[in-house]
Amino acid sequence: MSLTTLNYRATKDYKFMHFERREEFSINSTINANIQVLLQACFPDYPSHQTYFKQVPHSRILVWKKEALIGHASLEYRKIKVGETIMKALLIGDICVLPAFQNQNIASEIIAKIESLGKENNLDLMMVTVTDTSLYTRNGFYTVDNICRWVILQNHSTLGVRERNLNNSLMIKNLGQSKWNDGIIDFMGHIV
Ligand SMILES: CC(C)(COP(=O)(O)OP(=O)(O)OC[C@H]1O[C@@H](n2cnc3c(N)ncnc32)[C@H](O)[C@@H]1OP(=O)(O)O)[C@@H](O)C(=O)NCCC(=O)NCCS
Repeated sequence: MSLTTLNYRATKDYKFMHFERREEFSINSTINANIQVLLQACFPDYPSHQTYFKQVPHSRILVWKKEALIGHASLEYRKIKVGETIMKALLIGDICVLPAFQNQNIASEIIAKIESLGKENNLDLMMVTVTDTSLYTRNGFYTVDNICRWVILQNHSTLGVRERNLNNSLMIKNLGQSKWNDGIIDFMGHIV
């Protein structure tokens, strides 16, 4: 069974919450429906008929309170090239927490779980594109302004390759000792 139960932190705040990581291909229709409801509740413009914006992720962190899905993040493992350096990155997308459960550190805990996963597996960094930097800044991410090159996807079609600065919306957090450099970031795929 490709379901990984992440370390459960039994503090008062996380009592009765269950954090798990699921491979995308193992998600059944019931869980998929739960994810869809959560994404709709958290992102007003989320496509109503699917659980991803451009492409399916590799896995998802799901936070359950009893039978209710209250938190989520999608994860993609990717090798990227920064200048001439190949780096192992975890791309985080669609992080969200049901409004009634916000401001209880649940998103920060999701990020902490992802960070542990990355460190355990000797990855170089976590990466996210944002409009609001606050959640990530408080969790140790910082903005980088490298030129980026990525594959443009739209409506399940590949439209081409784009190269430009992301106007300070790209944030990273180092997981290992690798030094960040100012070279072009080649995503070798789409941006999450
Ligand atoms: C952003 C979000 C996931 C935070 O979840 P959470 O469990 O409340 O987060 P935490 O309790 O760990 O941390 C709260 C901090 O998140 C930050 N935050 C709140 N809303 C945010 C947002 N839309 N984007 C980025 N950061 C946000 C704030 O810094 C807040 O702390 P503060 O109010 O003291 O300044 C949640 O508000 C949410 O689901 N929003 C809607 C979806 C969304 O915008 N996701 C972000 C995509 S990049």
